[in-house]
Amino acid sequence: MIAPHVALALVRLCFDAAAIAACGVSGFIAWIAPNRLGLAIAASSNFLIVAASSLAVLSTLAWLPIEAAMIGDSWQSAVDRSTLSVILCDTAIGKAWLVRLALSLLLMAALPWRSGSIVRWALSGFLLTSLALTGHADMDEGTRGVLHILNDALHVLAGGAWLGSLLVLPGCLARLRDPAFCTDAKSALRRFSSAGHLAVALVIATGIINTVLVLRRWPTDFTSTYQMLLATKVAFVAGMTGLALMNRYIFVPRMLTQPDRAIIQIRNGTYAELALGAGVLALVAFLGILDPT
Ligand code: HEM
Repeated sequence: MIAPHVALALVRLCFDAAAIAACGVSGFIAWIAPNRLGLAIAASSNFLIVAASSLAVLSTLAWLPIEAAMIGDSWQSAVDRSTLSVILCDTAIGKAWLVRLALSLLLMAALPWRSGSIVRWALSGFLLTSLALTGHADMDEGTRGVLHILNDALHVLAGGAWLGSLLVLPGCLARLRDPAFCTDAKSALRRFSSAGHLAVALVIATGIINTVLVLRRWPTDFTSTYQMLLATKVAFVAGMTGLALMNRYIFVPRMLTQPDRAIIQIRNGTYAELALGAGVLALVAFLGILDPT
């Protein structure tokens, strides 16, 4: 049987991945892709939305008993009524869990609504920001506490917009070759580039502020597991940023002279960014439950 803290990290990973996928994909469809292209991408990425919404509900349902097992330091506490009701009624974790349960069920209920991307984007955006209500963002008090929560919320939203929207970028790139969608796909890529610059800048700025607020120093002491994982995360994000810059400033201009080659290079760069992004989420899942000191 795995230890409760490992199960908690895994459930956090599933929840983060589900909320980020739902937020990024529906945000791309609602705000980046022009109407007709948005509908086409929505149809082809329906399985992603269904999978993300289902995973959001399942990981939320699993979260509460696992949290109880963590607190009670045994799997028996996962089904212990009094532990569960104390968490639900008396802790911020319990209240955040209720909010997450309501939001993830609404996300699920919105599944049959084909053109509901804006609603899905808003619901999954709130799901993501609910992360800021628990964990290390909740450790400060007063004005500093409010600023920490707001900064964390902005951090996960910007990170979700960047990483989640990469999931549908290859589909958009493929449509550059389709005369029926070529103009729309070009305009989506232009919008994606502007919004992408903003999301990357925001995630880095809020990430630095998060580091200062949680750690009160730079993560350079590798005898601390927290600092080592955080430094690894920063290295992964640096890799993602390098790939994004290479796509934007080397391969996109190449589309004028060698379009087929450039599209393949941008697509491969996007897959590499997604792989690093998955690593970032795995690290964050553990960071949230480790002691930063
Ligand atoms: C693709 C880029 C990134 C993504 C997707 C991302 C995602 C996340 C997520 C989902 C959380 C968890 C929030 C929570 O559970 O409350 C988080 C927390 C955090 N992130 Fe990032 N992040 C990114 C980049 C960065 C960067 C560049 C830094 C530092 C310069 C950074 C520093 C932090 C810190 C310190 C935390 C708090 C961890 C804790 O709870 O102890 N992040 N990030």
